[in-house]
Amino acid sequence: MDFVFATSSKIAIRPANLTVPGAKLLAFLRFHIPQRRKTKVESGIMESMTSLTEDSATTGEEQGGVRRRDFINVAAASFAGVGAASVALPLINQMNPSADVLAAASTEVDVSAIAPGQAIKTIFRKQPLFVRHLTPEEIAAAEKEPVSNLRDPQTLEERTKAGKKQWLVTMGVCTHLGCVPLGAAAGEIKGEFGGYFCPCHGSHYDTAGRIRKGPAPTNLQVPEYAFTSDTVIKVG
Ligand code: FES
Repeated sequence: MDFVFATSSKIAIRPANLTVPGAKLLAFLRFHIPQRRKTKVESGIMESMTSLTEDSATTGEEQGGVRRRDFINVAAASFAGVGAASVALPLINQMNPSADVLAAASTEVDVSAIAPGQAIKTIFRKQPLFVRHLTPEEIAAAEKEPVSNLRDPQTLEERTKAGKKQWLVTMGVCTHLGCVPLGAAAGEIKGEFGGYFCPCHGSHYDTAGRIRKGPAPTNLQVPEYAFTSDTVIKVG
């Protein structure tokens, strides 16, 4: 918007002129404009300058206000997050298993004393665990059966560790209803397939611990384990 004022000598005042400091502008007008008109012009310009100044101040205040509100919101959210974390972390830590529970979560078994053809029963997570040292004949019996004939098809290799297929490690829990099968201790019945036999309802497992006869739906479970040395396994 341009302001043009006609006087004895023509004067044009444009918005850019408004950036001139007020004192200089007013002195300029007093010199060039007659007194009667000077008052109207001065008052008009002063009104414009005041309006501009007020608008500018108001806008700056709003911007400053918005920034302050944003800062307060962000700060409040941050404090809330830190507060929630400081409350939640101790609760979550409290739910972590204690040292004795962690120790019970894994079991180490020394297998050096288990001769071929023997097995032992031990405990893993409060359940029976069988560790069996297979003879070459028991390995051959497990390998000769076509996997396609099995209810729960698995090879002996898939149920043992690489290079250690003479060591069969399984849970001692029948997969039918959870009885403890026979066949791990000396003199116990091993069933029709030379592995384990569950007398509860007559499930027969072979020398790889696979279900071969009876109601059990799946093979004896092989837990997570690893050899920590040639003669020690860590289960869990
Ligand atoms: S629980 Fe083993 S056969 Fe039923």
